[in-house]
Amino acid sequence: MKKVRLGIIGVGNMGMQVAKHIVLGKECPEIELSAICDMYDSRIETAKEMFRDEGINYFSDPEEMMKSGVCDAVYIAVPHYDHPTLATKAFGYGLHVMLEKPAGVDTRSVRKMNEEAKKSGLKFGMMFQNRNAPVYKKVKNILDSGEFGEIRGVTWIVTNWYRSQAYYDSGSWRATWAGEGGGVLLNQCPHNLDLIQWLCGMPESIYAKCSVGQWHDIEVEDDVSAIFKYKNGALGTFITSTGMNPGTNRLEIATDKGTIILENASKLMVNELDRSLPEAANEMSGSPDSPKITTVAYTFPELKAEKHSITLNAFAGAILRNEKLIIDGEEGIKSLTLSNAMYLSDWTNSEISLPLNEELFLEELEKRKKISKHKDVKAVFVDAASLYQKK
Ligand SMILES: NC(=O)c1ccc[n+]([C@@H]2O[C@H](COP(=O)([O-])OP(=O)(O)OC[C@H]3O[C@@H](n4cnc5c(N)ncnc54)[C@H](O)[C@@H]3O)[C@@H](O)[C@H]2O)c1
Repeated sequence: MKKVRLGIIGVGNMGMQVAKHIVLGKECPEIELSAICDMYDSRIETAKEMFRDEGINYFSDPEEMMKSGVCDAVYIAVPHYDHPTLATKAFGYGLHVMLEKPAGVDTRSVRKMNEEAKKSGLKFGMMFQNRNAPVYKKVKNILDSGEFGEIRGVTWIVTNWYRSQAYYDSGSWRATWAGEGGGVLLNQCPHNLDLIQWLCGMPESIYAKCSVGQWHDIEVEDDVSAIFKYKNGALGTFITSTGMNPGTNRLEIATDKGTIILENASKLMVNELDRSLPEAANEMSGSPDSPKITTVAYTFPELKAEKHSITLNAFAGAILRNEKLIIDGEEGIKSLTLSNAMYLSDWTNSEISLPLNEELFLEELEKRKKISKHKDVKAVFVDAASLYQKK
């Protein structure tokens, strides 16, 4: 069987997990892990130890790996500022790209990356693996069927992203404007922001408050409340935090034909009216007759990490047989537009209309990068995943 020769750039938490899925878990039968690149020797040593005798080529410089001829494609799992730069370089070397979320830090550089991707004609996927989850696919199908009419409002409280100070201290780039480019909106929430726009579309404007270092000793935001305004006048509310434990994950979408409620990304409740609210409003003048509600409850398995492999397998299918990608890389700009707009709204204390003013965003980001400090941390490479839930 022909296989895609994949090079991983960045074998930290995420890159290493993916390498294990491919090599040890054998979850990607059409992918051969042909190369690993990391700028830190200790990471390379760990990988060599882990994947002995697997014939993997090791590099410390991504460009050396790209021009070595041992890869057909790269998976990029490094800090966010380098996402557009490395992806663009890879397209230049004729390599297909699977990019970790978020697409980048600012929409300007992501827009340029997208243009290069298009010109190259190569396959470009984004790792928004939660779109593979049956529960979100179900909600998407309900909304796309048109049977529920228009969306009247959406509320997503997603405060179950608790992170400890030890997590933030686990890498000098984390939670800094210069290293990471943002906080909860840029690290934890890209999945939620991708899903909210996938399910409900892009809003026309956004107003947000982002609290910086509210619950942690960090220079970026760890608590956010935002209001979205959609084209039809419907409002959306998005609330997130890494400072609450236990947190909540509740998505509620109100439509003309009832409400769709999703708890913890696994329990779905669909409350369907027997006729839509516009129909009922006409019929019900003065009468107590309310639309009847039918409730259907579904339980889905909790989200698991193996969806990375599903996304990678579709990427291999796209390269080998021109099959459809699960998420086109170019779509990554949408969730980033939402977070860029939230920052800009907070920074300027104003409602931001989309498309946002990219110049102003970059100017404001630059001010923060200038005074940003890379942290002096002892344990630069502790396993951040193991710290997610510690207090
Ligand atoms: N899809 C998901 O669910 C998910 C989950 C966690 C992290 N991520 C994303 O994965 C990416 C990496 O996060 P992480 O937690 O693994 O970070 P990490 O700090 O643990 O790992 C990053 C690795 O990249 C290496 N690196 C940095 N710049 C490099 C360069 N220019 N060339 C070569 N190597 C370089 C570092 O040495 C490090 O080993 C981020 O974009 C993050 O948002 C995605």
